[in-house]
Amino acid sequence: MEDMKDIQWFPGHMAKTRRMIAKSLPLVDAAAELLDARLPMSSRNPELRSLTGKKPRLIILNKADMADPAVTQQWMQYYKKQGFAVITADSKSGKGVKQFAPVLRELLKDQLEKYAAKGMKGRPIRVMILGIPNVGKSSLINRLAGGKRAKAEDRAGVTRTQQWIKTADGVELLDTPGVLWPKLDDQDVAVRLAMTGAVRDDILDKEALAARLMTLLHTEYPQALEQRYKIPPELEAEGFAYLELMAKNRGMLLSGGVPNTERAAITLLDEFRGTKLGRISLEKPQGD
Ligand code: G4P
Repeated sequence: MEDMKDIQWFPGHMAKTRRMIAKSLPLVDAAAELLDARLPMSSRNPELRSLTGKKPRLIILNKADMADPAVTQQWMQYYKKQGFAVITADSKSGKGVKQFAPVLRELLKDQLEKYAAKGMKGRPIRVMILGIPNVGKSSLINRLAGGKRAKAEDRAGVTRTQQWIKTADGVELLDTPGVLWPKLDDQDVAVRLAMTGAVRDDILDKEALAARLMTLLHTEYPQALEQRYKIPPELEAEGFAYLELMAKNRGMLLSGGVPNTERAAITLLDEFRGTKLGRISLEKPQGD
């Protein structure tokens, strides 16, 4: 799939996505929005509401295997209260993916009853998958398709019409997912996306990014930092000082015993992204 790290969101690119969604919308019964369960706010697209209009929406909190389960439950309630159907999924292993069809059917209950009344029983439910790059759109489509090839080939010079991918339970997916842009003009959003590796992490230097992650982890998950890097939970310091302590405790030293904070930063980001620190959520629902 396209990788957000390599994408520049030019206005032309965004306009093309808007057109693609506008064109596909009349063909589908619902829009399925994938969010990163570790960042269910920052991984949203700022325009999706206006892009999808009144179309029923299903939110998939994907990569739930990497997120804090208790916080993911809070997000589920948060979005359910707003009227969305919500499921959690790990599209890599397939866990949770089987809820997709039944929850969609429930979401579209009234519409399906109308179809049935018109004698259109058994008509497939058609869905478009949307989400920012790297959130797991292809993985989910592959899982739902049950191993069948999810994508028609994109051959240069060949215009192809959109195709439907059949999945179990009478649900069909548009084969081209909508690749959305996140709210990158918001610095906090961009930083949190960079922490997960979803966007280029050179928006801040690695040490500054890792120092911010340290501060967040020390507030929300102090026991993880204690267990892995022996950073005392009671120590109140700047993020950079935690990084220095981690370097010392891990024996990452430059000549003269100076802590190698650059190496510590790279290690922290790698270990966080590899869930070596456990299942961690970077955002909690606010004001609810
Ligand atoms: P996209 O189409 O939205 O761009 O995302 P894609 O499915 O390509 O997934 C991006 C990366 O995220 C892939 O990892 C994929 O395996 C991983 N991924 C997707 N869904 C989940 C999930 O629910 N849980 C976890 N843990 N990972 C998920 P990759 O490093 O690019 O490839 P690989 O590690 O699978 O080889």
